[in-house]
Amino acid sequence: VSDMLVDSFGRLHTYLRISVSERCNLRCQYCMPADGVELTPGPELLSKDEIVRLASLFVNCGVNKIRLTGGEPTIRKDIEDICLQLSELKGLKTLAITTNGLTLARKLPKLKMCGLNAVNISLDTLVPAKFEFMTRRRGHEKVIESINTAVNLGYDPVKVNCVVMRGFNDDEICDFIELTREKPINIRFIEFMPFDGNVWNVKKLVSYYEIMDRVVNKFSDLKRLNDDPTDTAKNFRVEGHRGTVSFITSMTEHFCAGCNRLRLLADGNLKVCLFGSAEVSLRDPIRSGADDNELMEIIGRAVKRKKAAHAGMFDLANTANRPMIRIGG
Ligand code: GTP
Ligand code: 5AD
Ligand code: SF4
Repeated sequence: VSDMLVDSFGRLHTYLRISVSERCNLRCQYCMPADGVELTPGPELLSKDEIVRLASLFVNCGVNKIRLTGGEPTIRKDIEDICLQLSELKGLKTLAITTNGLTLARKLPKLKMCGLNAVNISLDTLVPAKFEFMTRRRGHEKVIESINTAVNLGYDPVKVNCVVMRGFNDDEICDFIELTREKPINIRFIEFMPFDGNVWNVKKLVSYYEIMDRVVNKFSDLKRLNDDPTDTAKNFRVEGHRGTVSFITSMTEHFCAGCNRLRLLADGNLKVCLFGSAEVSLRDPIRSGADDNELMEIIGRAVKRKKAAHAGMFDLANTANRPMIRIGG
């Protein structure tokens, strides 16, 4: 283990998020610009072997958790092989996925056999018609089925990501919490964040305080749990419920001080923060024959340039970035 993954604020980066595809089978308004996105041409995307080579470098330098993201990671044809090869990396403890759940019910048993041991599923509404409005596609019942499949396969907890948007789903917060009563589900209310093309507006942001207010109104016996210092979420449990409730407060109370994340994008760029445009290509040096030491030097320099925190609630919307679909969260 080198100090390649320690930044200038002493933060050790042990968590790599790998976006394996820029494409998606949904068209969520908060993620994909209405007029679409320009996709990176196929040959410029990382191959499975390039992903595994880079991932193994990171794992050798201290990464113990990899999350596969997209676009939608499950639409990549070689996703099972990717999982299998990543899960065999010595030192990796968690291999996770963040998915929209559209085709997961079918694919999860195989993915589990390939070493996938944590599942986060995005679901913003319990009302099928609202799902169609937000995602511009059908498939609400398939996502519900995937959540149940993940529970039945023993994933515990199954994390359910709900981006809260005023006037869209802020009336469903307590209904979502009901899901935690009997099942090992961790429902996570996420503050709406600005990305290129997602027409973010502060009026649509429902803050942690406001969500919490509505929650304690109905569920007064909400107990704070111990969070890991690197957690994005503040975690709670309604007394007696099997599952848990969390809040991801990126906008009103950022958690950058505990950040342990780096991102490898589908086009091979390393992105050191979810926000901002600081990126460096790892694909280009790989394809021009760089050896592991040269790659580690490039990675180390990028990590050292990482900022202490994102630009802050009021400047984020004006910070140059990518559309969410080309980052993966
Ligand atoms: P765990 O690995 O299970 O803790 O999940 P996660 O919260 O890291 O990842 P997930 O893909 O489920 O993302 C949930 C929400 O957290 C999304 O809105 C992400 O954009 C956001 N998120 C994930 N990582 C970061 C981060 O490093 N910084 C910020 N500000 N938000 C993040
Ligand atoms: N703000 C907050 N979360 C978002 N996600 C996608 N777009 C946004 C946004 N604008 C969530 C998805 C997914 C996770 C990777 O990020 O719902 O669960
Ligand atoms: Fe880390 Fe950037 Fe997210 Fe802050 S905004 S937690 S620094 S990735």
